[in-house]
Amino acid sequence: MNVLVTGGTGYIGSHTCVELIKKGYDIVIADNLSNSKSEVVDKIEKLSGKRPAFYKVDILDKEGIESIFSAHSIDAVIHFAGKKAVGESVEKPLMYYHNNITGTINILEAMIKFGCKRFVFSSSATVYGAPKSVPIKEDFPLSTTNPYGTTKLYIEGMLKDLSVANKELSITILRYFNPIGAHDSGLIGDNPNGIPNNLMPYVTRVAKGTLPQLGIFGNDYPTHDGTGVRDYIHVIDLALGHVKALEHMDEVGVKFYNLGTGNGYSVLDIVKAFEKVNNIKIPYKITERRAGDIAECYADASKAKDELGWVAEYGLEDMCRSALNQK
Ligand code: WQD
Repeated sequence: MNVLVTGGTGYIGSHTCVELIKKGYDIVIADNLSNSKSEVVDKIEKLSGKRPAFYKVDILDKEGIESIFSAHSIDAVIHFAGKKAVGESVEKPLMYYHNNITGTINILEAMIKFGCKRFVFSSSATVYGAPKSVPIKEDFPLSTTNPYGTTKLYIEGMLKDLSVANKELSITILRYFNPIGAHDSGLIGDNPNGIPNNLMPYVTRVAKGTLPQLGIFGNDYPTHDGTGVRDYIHVIDLALGHVKALEHMDEVGVKFYNLGTGNGYSVLDIVKAFEKVNNIKIPYKITERRAGDIAECYADASKAKDELGWVAEYGLEDMCRSALNQK
């Protein structure tokens, strides 16, 4: 089966490509390299034993996207490509709406034009907003607090409408919680350009000495130690969730799954686990809360277990060790 992976040289995309190739899929990557490097294609080949086809294409480049479907008989699409920085989305909402929504429309229109009927969408737990309770189930109310999250919410709505209009499509929407960690080899991982927005890449830079200390965004939340609680999931577990999703797409219509561990850890829990497993001190200071942050968010992942046969297996120690080990 030929799978087009948009954003395939990115953090989650590259780990997913490795797992897909290991399972025998033929991979075609489309990525504009705005937040990744072309060397990742070499690393995917090294880790999986087979080189994916690679096209440096922006999802806003409709002709470029169509040329990939002309060159390859694409059977399924896993769509990761998109802007994903919460803070940046608040400053540049129109760029986020245009890039993420128009880009997704380009992919979907090319799929329909070339008869590709399977679509896996990279969504996010951010569509749940501040949940009424935890753990979060897929049928919880949806609301967002920033333009990045809203693009995910709007695309989910667009996919639901599309599946009504085009009854041949099989669409799976995966809502990620907080992916962290890296491939055990250290060859691929989470290495964003510039100062990291997310917790684990920031902690990793402090551990490596490229940043002086961690700022913990508030310790006055209603959680066990006052710092924000999230469902951290190993990126390999997340990648394997996409493999399972592809294996369960024989039915038409739209399906939604939380991809999380079901465990909530606070910022201080993460710092302490990282220090312990890596035998290192992470200097930090408590700062003001970050605008838009919520107190607590973790998954009820039972639906993915029951319907996809998927369960996250890596523990927090593996996540913290592999995060530091990445080269
Ligand atoms: C985690 C916790 C922060 C950085 C976002 C998006 C989500 C997905 C993952 C894209 C929070 C605290 C963080 C720091 C800190 N994005 N923190 N100091 O905000 O849960 O989720 O990123 O795929 O869609 O919403 O992740 O890692 O930014 O924050 O104290 O320097 O760490 O307050 O409690 P978040 P995060």
